[in-house]
Amino acid sequence: MRFWRRLYLKDDGASWPSTSPRAAQSETLKILFIGDIVGSPGRGIVTERLADIVQTREIDLVIANGENSASGFGITPRIAEQLFAAGIEVLTGGNHIWDRKEILDYIPQHPRLLRPANFADINPGSGLFVGTARNGVRYAVLNLQGRVFMTANDCPFRAADRELASIPPEVRVIFVDFHAETTSEKEAMGWYLDGRVSAVIGTHTHVPTADQHVLPGGTAFQTDVGMTGPHDGVIGMDKTAILRKFLDGQPARFEVATGDIQMNTVLLDIDEATGRARGIERLRFRTD
Ligand code: FE2
Repeated sequence: MRFWRRLYLKDDGASWPSTSPRAAQSETLKILFIGDIVGSPGRGIVTERLADIVQTREIDLVIANGENSASGFGITPRIAEQLFAAGIEVLTGGNHIWDRKEILDYIPQHPRLLRPANFADINPGSGLFVGTARNGVRYAVLNLQGRVFMTANDCPFRAADRELASIPPEVRVIFVDFHAETTSEKEAMGWYLDGRVSAVIGTHTHVPTADQHVLPGGTAFQTDVGMTGPHDGVIGMDKTAILRKFLDGQPARFEVATGDIQMNTVLLDIDEATGRARGIERLRFRTD
C-alpha cells in the first residue's frame, strides 16, 4: 500500500465569511467536491484517502467529476462502481462522458452518474440528481457544460433554468458542476445562478484557480477546482507526447502521467435550512 501524506495542504485564501456565531445558526452540510479524477493514479489516491478525509473533516456528502477516470478518457461501469464504493455519492461528467461506449447502457440505470444537462435530450442519462445525504438532508446535483471553445450543445444557462425549476422546493442544497473551458463563461454562470444554488464550481481545465469565494447571494464559486491525478505532466497526461504534438502537430497517442499525484478538492459549508453557502475552502492532498 502506498503511504499517503496524512496532513492535507490548506491553500491560501480560504473564504469563510465572518458572520454571526455558529451556535446561533442552523445546521451545516459539509460537501467535498473532488476535481476531475484522471486515470488509475487519480482513482488510487481517492480510494486510499477518501474515507480518512471524510471522517476527519466530518463530511456529509462527496461529489466528484469522473469523466477522465478511465485512462484519462471517459468512465466505465466498473470504474464508476469502484468510485461509488470509495464513498463518492454522485459522479459528474463532461465532454468525455461517452468516450467508453459501455457507459451508454449503464448511465440510464445509474442516476448517480450524470452527463451534462444541456446535451441533446436524445442522449441517455440525466444532468440532474436529487438525493439524500448521510445526515438526512436532501440535495440536488446539476451538471452543465460550457459552449465556448467546446461542442455547441444547448444553452447551459437556459438548461440551468429548466433543471432548477424541476427540483422540489424543499430541496435547498443545490450543487452545480459547470464543465467549461473559459474563465469568462464560468464566472458568468456563477453570477447567473447566485442566490439560486448553493455552489457553482468549475471543472474541465484541470488547473485549480485561486478565486474561491461566496457571492453576495450566498452561492459559493470557484472557476476551476483542478484535477485529481498526476501533476508531472500536462493536465494529467504524459508530457513527452504532448510536447511532441505541440512541436510537430502530428496525431499522437496520449498516456496518463505517473508522478506527483494530487487530489484537488473544494470543501463547502452549506446552511441546511437555506441552502446558502457559509464558506468555501480549497483543499489539496498529495503524495509524499
Ligand atoms: Fe472535460
